Amino acid sequence: MQTVTARAHTNIALVKYWGKKNQELILPYTNSLSLTLDVFYTDTSVQFDPLLETDQFLLNGENVTGKSLIKVQRFMDLIRSEANIAMPARIESTNHVPTAAGLASSASAFAALAAAGSRAAGLDLSLRDLSRLARRGSGSATRSIYGGFVEWERGDSDATSYAVPIQEQVDWDIQMIAILLNRHEKKVSSRSEMANDVATSPYYPAWIENAQTEVDTIKQAIAARDLNQVGQIAEQSAMRMHALTMSAVPPFTYFEPSTLQAIAKVQELRAQGLSCYYTMDAGPNVKVICSARETPQILAGLSTIFPKEQLTVAKPGPGIQYLPPQQRSDL
Ligand code: DP6
Repeated sequence: MQTVTARAHTNIALVKYWGKKNQELILPYTNSLSLTLDVFYTDTSVQFDPLLETDQFLLNGENVTGKSLIKVQRFMDLIRSEANIAMPARIESTNHVPTAAGLASSASAFAALAAAGSRAAGLDLSLRDLSRLARRGSGSATRSIYGGFVEWERGDSDATSYAVPIQEQVDWDIQMIAILLNRHEKKVSSRSEMANDVATSPYYPAWIENAQTEVDTIKQAIAARDLNQVGQIAEQSAMRMHALTMSAVPPFTYFEPSTLQAIAKVQELRAQGLSCYYTMDAGPNVKVICSARETPQILAGLSTIFPKEQLTVAKPGPGIQYLPPQQRSDL
């Protein structure tokens, strides 16, 4: 059978997804909204092969086993059952994202696997159905099917929970600076921490209650191309999400001392008149939302405390792409 290669870019949520009402189907309690980025992406090739005994998964050239392999096999089972085939597959992925460092690698990983896997199995899914399929691998992957600003409509069933593009071609001046503070695997996965926060944080009902207002307001701000308003809501959503981890039992935080240093620096630069805002995911790293026009000044400010190698500028990126095999950047 043919080998299919797909590329998916990661996305950073501006209004976060944090908590599932259905673990099996990955149905979230709330809508969320993200920006897909250009420089962080995953290339994945899939080939079904009747001669294999079981699925094989190579990530960045290394054979993956254990829990991560099982997660991928279960995902491939969804594709096999939809395509009505029984063959194992050979899967090769290259992550152009620091894996599990909080830069949402599962988003690009499962979006690329959904696209390459389904097409290699002979399925021709619509973008909506691809988004639904990606969702079954990891919630944030639901949004990586599209470029630019994307909303994940939570829905209330497998059929109604998928992403929709809000502004695919971002024609105004907004981008991010990723501050890489820690490259290591995160201590606690987003999956287990969000489940614990839903179960134990007394603030979780308030999180659900406020989410829709945040999504509605940020969509207006995006339509108005209002960087300051987008940034303010993103900060609010991120800090509220992290307040859920801190208020859970047991309490927990993804923040490290350097996370707080970065936040303080962004606040200082803002006090100097620069439009910059921070957001953090399930890890210590900080993403700064800003304009391309002011990026040189913001980079100069950040590099007074962080080495330049830790700072990556990312622009709005595209949705899912299919590549001929020779276009893989690692081959
Ligand atoms: C903080 O998508 O990694 O990045 O659905 O359990 O795989 P699972 O979780 P995941 O969680 C992402 C959480 C977040 C916020 C977001 O991307 O919306």
